[in-house]
Amino acid sequence: MRSDANIAGPMADPVPGPRPADPQPGADLGHLPTGEVVSRETPPPPMPRPDKTRVMVVANQKGGVGKTTTTVNLAASLALHGNRVLVIDLDPQGNASTALGIDHHADVPSIYDVLVDSKALSDVVQPVRDVEGLFCAPATIDLAGAEIELVSLVARESRLDRAIKAYEQPLDYILIDCPPSLGLLTVNALVAGAEVLIPIQCEYYALEGLGQLLRNVELVRGHLNPELHVSTILLTMYDGRTRLASQVADEVRSHFGHEVLRTSIPRSVRISEAPSYGQTVLTYDPGSTGALSYLEAAREIALRGVGVRYDGSKAHTVGRQQQQDQHSMSEGLQ
Ligand SMILES: Nc1ncnc2c1ncn2[C@@H]1O[C@H](COP(=O)(O)OP(=O)(O)O)[C@@H](O)[C@H]1O
Ligand SMILES: [Mg+2]
Repeated sequence: MRSDANIAGPMADPVPGPRPADPQPGADLGHLPTGEVVSRETPPPPMPRPDKTRVMVVANQKGGVGKTTTTVNLAASLALHGNRVLVIDLDPQGNASTALGIDHHADVPSIYDVLVDSKALSDVVQPVRDVEGLFCAPATIDLAGAEIELVSLVARESRLDRAIKAYEQPLDYILIDCPPSLGLLTVNALVAGAEVLIPIQCEYYALEGLGQLLRNVELVRGHLNPELHVSTILLTMYDGRTRLASQVADEVRSHFGHEVLRTSIPRSVRISEAPSYGQTVLTYDPGSTGALSYLEAAREIALRGVGVRYDGSKAHTVGRQQQQDQHSMSEGLQ
C-alpha cells in the first residue's frame, strides 16, 4: 500500500474482526478549523486518524538513541487510540519485534523474505498480542545478510516500497524501525516513506553525524522519492535535572525548529524495562511518565497530521532558554 492509498483490500486481515471504532466525538477534530489550538484544560482530544496512510521512517544512524523504543511506543500509543498501525522491523537485531512480543526466531517468515525473496508483506505480518490494531513485520537474524544480498538485486533501493504498495490492508500508520546505519536497508525505508522521524538523545554529540543522514534524505528525495522530508524530531532520554540535556534540547530546537515535537521523552526505568517483558511501556505501565510522554508525543504527531496546532502546556516539554555558556553540539551538521 502506498501512503496515499488507504484502501481496504480483499486479503484476510491478520486480525479478523471489525476495525477499531473511530475515536469518540470530536476525535476527528473536523469541528476544529486548521491551525486552532487545542486547549489542554479540557480532557485531551482523542487522536485523529489520518485520511491516508502515513509512512514514517524512524532513522538515526547512531545506535542507542531510542529509535526502537520510539517506534514501538508511538505505534502502541496510536493503536490504543483507534489507529491501525504496522511496525516494520528493519533492524537485524530484531529489537522492535522483541519489544512487541513477536516471535522472530530464524524460521519465522520475516521482512528479509519480503526484501530478498519478494514474499508478500501480508505473509509475514503478525498481530501484536494485547494491542488491538497493532501489527508487526518482524526481523530475523537473516536480515544481517540482506545489506549485501540486496546489492545484486533488481530495484534494490525500492523493494520495501513495492512491498508496501502491494499490501492491501487498511492502515493509518506504518512505522519503520531502521538499523543504526545508512546502508541499503535504511535507503529502502527512505524510499518507502514520506516522513522521516529522527529521535535525538539528549546528550553531548547528539547532532554529530546527523548531517550525513540529512544529506541522504536529500539524495533520496532528489532521485527516488520526491515526497520524502524530515517531518518529526523527538528528543529522547531527556533528563530535566541536567543542564546538558536542556542545552542539547535548545541546540536541536534552534537547528530544526518546527519539526521538533514539543513533547520530549524523559529517561525512565519503566521504558527500559518493558521490552524484557515483550511489551511496550503503554501496556507494561500505562500510568508511568514514560507511557504518558509517548502518548503525548503520539497525539502531537496525530494532530500535526491533520493540521491542528498542539498546546502542550501540560505535556512533558523542554525548551528552556539557556543562552549563555552553550557548548556547540552541531559540528556534525557541517
Ligand atoms: N526514555 C528512555 N528511558 C530509559 N531508557 C531508554 C529510553 N529510551 C530508550 N532507552 C533504552 O536505551 C537503549 C537504547 O534504546 P533503543 O530504542 O534500543 O535505541 P536504538 O534503537 O536507537 O538503538 C535501550 O536499552 C532502551 O531500553
Ligand atoms: Mg534499534
